[in-house]
Amino acid sequence: MDLWWNARLEMILDKMDTYKPNRTINKKQHWDDIYANSPQEKLGWFENDLSPTIQLLSKTGLDTTARTLIIGAGSTTLVDELIKQEYSNIIATDISKVALDNLQQRVNNLSIEYIIDDLTKPSKLSSIEPIDLWIDRAVLHFFTEENERTTYFNLLKRKVKEGGFVLLAQFSLNGASKCSGLPLYRYSKEMLQSSLGDRFSLIDSFDYIYTMPSGDIRPYIYTLFKYKSRLY
Ligand SMILES: C[S@@+](CC[C@H](N)C(=O)[O-])C[C@H]1O[C@@H](n2cnc3c(N)ncnc32)[C@H](O)[C@@H]1O
Repeated sequence: MDLWWNARLEMILDKMDTYKPNRTINKKQHWDDIYANSPQEKLGWFENDLSPTIQLLSKTGLDTTARTLIIGAGSTTLVDELIKQEYSNIIATDISKVALDNLQQRVNNLSIEYIIDDLTKPSKLSSIEPIDLWIDRAVLHFFTEENERTTYFNLLKRKVKEGGFVLLAQFSLNGASKCSGLPLYRYSKEMLQSSLGDRFSLIDSFDYIYTMPSGDIRPYIYTLFKYKSRLY
């Protein structure tokens, strides 16, 4: 009888989307399932047009040997673009092994390092060498718990070199409140600045309306910060 009730309850909660945020989700499984079951060009965050990111990258003045960490890379086409631009020091990290396997098979480039890790409980990422560039499109906004955000920003501050850059592109305050069935914590540039602290200076930012493969639109805030040296 208990089993029957549990199954009924599961079914009801599945139908009542509003209750989902309070339920425990196995995040790794969630993302693995998405990447295993959707063609990449149908993903709700698939990009044909990388111009907003490329526009900010051009402001860093970094050269193509910059040690570049792509956060929650998934199967992003940004990796293909950076390789085309001859970036030679790329690390792609994600919680989903399926996503990184898909990416690795597609780009087929031996210079890229792949790290499977959870940004909210970093283990391998904690021991990587410092980086010049941290790029996160559409990952940070999934961290709805304060302790998750604290862990994320602590890792970032430990890993970005002085003089390095942080590119954050997240759903803006007027953006959707969910993505791929998960609740979001949305951002303004002021909120990102406040989480990064005074040693990061805002180099550029803009609002950007992303069009999903379905044709729906999603407003983002794009920001580029520089980690100031202690000398300034
Ligand atoms: C909306 S997708 C964006 C993917 C990619 N950044 C892009 O722009 O195409 C969010 C990504 O974050 C990854 N992710 C979610 N939670 C994560 C976590 N706790 N640690 C590491 N990656 C995570 C997912 O697997 C997924 O690839």
